[in-house]
Amino acid sequence: MATSLQETQLVAFDEEPAMELLRASIFHTPRNPFHSSGPLEFFADGGLFIRDGRIEACGDYTAIRNAYPDVEVTDLRGGFLLPGFIDTHIHFPQGRIIGSLGRSLLDWLEHCALPEEARMDDDSYATLVAAEFMQGLVTHGTTTALVFGAHFPRATAILFEAAQARGLRIISGQVFSDRLLSPALHQSAESAYRDGSDLIRRFHGQGRLLYAVTPRFALSASEAMLEVCQTLMNENMGVRFQTHLNENDAEIAEVRRQFPWARDYLAVYERYGLGGRGAVMAHNVHPSNSELERLAAGGTSVAHCPCSNAALGSGIFPLAGHLKAKVHFALGSDVGGGTGYGMLKEGLQAYLLQRLTPGGAMLTGEQLLYLATKAGAEALDLADETGDFMPGKSADLVYLKAPERSPLAAVLKRAPDAESILAAIFTLAGAECVEEVRVAGEVVHRTSPDRD
Ligand code: GUN
Ligand code: ZN
Repeated sequence: MATSLQETQLVAFDEEPAMELLRASIFHTPRNPFHSSGPLEFFADGGLFIRDGRIEACGDYTAIRNAYPDVEVTDLRGGFLLPGFIDTHIHFPQGRIIGSLGRSLLDWLEHCALPEEARMDDDSYATLVAAEFMQGLVTHGTTTALVFGAHFPRATAILFEAAQARGLRIISGQVFSDRLLSPALHQSAESAYRDGSDLIRRFHGQGRLLYAVTPRFALSASEAMLEVCQTLMNENMGVRFQTHLNENDAEIAEVRRQFPWARDYLAVYERYGLGGRGAVMAHNVHPSNSELERLAAGGTSVAHCPCSNAALGSGIFPLAGHLKAKVHFALGSDVGGGTGYGMLKEGLQAYLLQRLTPGGAMLTGEQLLYLATKAGAEALDLADETGDFMPGKSADLVYLKAPERSPLAAVLKRAPDAESILAAIFTLAGAECVEEVRVAGEVVHRTSPDRD
């Protein structure tokens, strides 16, 4: 029999004190480094003062210690505190198909993704995959994620329950499709409305959970289904929106055939009012200038998924074009089209692909950190809550430490400045460096439970 959700999901850590001062090197990006050229916010000997799960102060350790002389200090020197990573595009049911290489999007969907997603009809299987999914997120330092749920309402509820048990900040929704995928994954527009409304009632705004209306992509949604999405958005305050856009040439050509009235891919969503603040379109590898302009004007964000774009051969993200048009974007792992849960790896891949692109951007470590944290919070309309260490934010953080004798440890001995340290972290750090992860000050992952 499958292991129960409770057995696999509940992780007991000692309760954190109501007030705590963490001492470590600290990086965060409260300002957008694509717009401002201020110094990188780095405290070599830093202090992060947390009260009741919120950040009250962040700065040089000595100054913070002087301001709070009596508070308990947790000494984490030798490692780095960063805001918890924010993954703006990931698929819960695809954890077990990561690494299905050698195919392009539509072929990969048919042969790899969709057959696996059909298995989510089995609750005990969905429970196991949900537990693995949470583990994948926390072990890589991700504290917030915008997640494609399952096509089945029960499996989507299982995901929400697993997130709640684990304490992560998860925005998700049942994936809607009513054509062109395997029939096992279809639902009618009527049942999508019913199931979506029910899931919103049960999970939206519960603790750290939010709901996102999630048509899979225009290709697999009828106009009736897109209308249901519009209705759900209009009827429910604060729900987010996510889908795919302009990922692959063959996909785009098919969308044109299916929606002959639409001037381009984005116009299909626009007709139903699907976009705007808090909406995230994944990929957007092949946008027209007009689409970029309209995304920017509407405040819609894009999830840039560089590992997936390379693995599925979708193309190279026009990052400079997004910057020029002022379209907001952040990083996404796109598990399982992507190559894993690591947002540091996504940052490195974004850098590498831009390096190889004529006219590509030369991304800095600071920009990569912003794209993996604060930019995600902005995309999800959560920037008042998470994404950096400014006072009042939730204490969502990842503590990274280079394992002894690792290549990263060797580089850090010599790294001359903050930017070099950050670049080395993005280049060399993976899950093996993630020692502790907290959401709202609560430990959701720790590699050494007996640390104290
Ligand atoms: N477009 C529609 N569905 C998917 C998916 O599961 N992954 C990716 N990368 N693109 C999609
Ligand atoms: Zn995707």
